Amino acid sequence: MIEKDKIWPWWPLFPLYPYGSKKTIINELIPEQIWSLEQIQGIYYVAVPVRMTVIKVNEGLMILNPLPPTIELINQLNEIIFKHGPIKAIVLPTASGLEHKIGLPPLARIFNQAEIWLCPGQWSFPINLPLDFIGIPSKRTKILFEDGLPFEDCCKWTSLGPINLGLGRFQEISCFHKPTGSLHVTDAIVGIESNPPKIFDYDPSPLLFHSRERGDELLVDSPENRKKGWARLVLFASYLRPSKLQIPSLNHVIKYSFKKGLRNKKSHFGIYPFLWDKDWEVSKAVIIGDNSPKIQIAPVLQRLIFPRSKELLSNWLMVVKNFKGMKYLISAHYSSPLEFSEIDCQKIIDNINSDEWNSLNEDNKFLYNFYERLYKLGIIPENINI
Ligand SMILES: [Fe+2]
Repeated sequence: MIEKDKIWPWWPLFPLYPYGSKKTIINELIPEQIWSLEQIQGIYYVAVPVRMTVIKVNEGLMILNPLPPTIELINQLNEIIFKHGPIKAIVLPTASGLEHKIGLPPLARIFNQAEIWLCPGQWSFPINLPLDFIGIPSKRTKILFEDGLPFEDCCKWTSLGPINLGLGRFQEISCFHKPTGSLHVTDAIVGIESNPPKIFDYDPSPLLFHSRERGDELLVDSPENRKKGWARLVLFASYLRPSKLQIPSLNHVIKYSFKKGLRNKKSHFGIYPFLWDKDWEVSKAVIIGDNSPKIQIAPVLQRLIFPRSKELLSNWLMVVKNFKGMKYLISAHYSSPLEFSEIDCQKIIDNINSDEWNSLNEDNKFLYNFYERLYKLGIIPENINI
């Protein structure tokens, strides 16, 4: 049965897993200053956590990367509001990430005194619609940089992009919160570790689903299986089609489907259209840190967005590197807060300028070929400028 405080009625507009019921967990990332609220969102079998961040600003709070406001999420927010003041602003700092946009219209309606700030160049697909049409109140909405910037007394804002994607743009605006020394990004930099995020404690079935080798295996909950499933989920989310994954024949899939104990939604009725190579774990080490999060430019962006714009990425990192007193990185996905200093930033810059960045390991080939096809078809334009 769906718990009332987790109901998300607007799910049919963007049918992302787990659809009409969303669990939210809250964490205080930096005492009395920064909080993280997380939900899971995904497409069919790839479900990853998405983070909304709440930051203490002058006389109130600022939200970055809004999430769908279930009753549970609002109750958690109200606890912070009660102690630290009202929501002064809701900021959508990305132009492209749909998973960060869907919560904005209903959240803006609930906090109807808050200013709304958007990354420039918002676009909807297949057609571009006016803001009010997609539920964003234009009267109290401002565009970052074009209409100024919020809370400049405590925040420094910088833009990664825009990069012309043909159908729209990639751009995200990062925020450096001076009092805590924390850098806030949406998708660009992530830190991935081998332990699954806490939100899966509520329902580990997406992890257990992927921990199996065949559709007729039951979902067995154990710490090892959770870790194994998490690693495979990360590989899916990072490469779309990892190199150590084969797609079995339809006959193979059907042979092992619909077995007793698996004829339910959680097990996808035993339909498991994957076949992992025996040595699949070698792919893990490249992107998943064993004892601590591995900090990196998000693998999908490396291959789909940045092949034409390495210089732009480097330049953005140079700006970030010079933020005085930078101690933490908080991103909208994976582990946070991460310890992140000028030195860590330089390591990423060095990596971008190394041969490793240009080398194409097997896992990257699917994304690279996809990118090449779009580029050759002229869907991705040659010129990165808008
Ligand atoms: Fe994202």
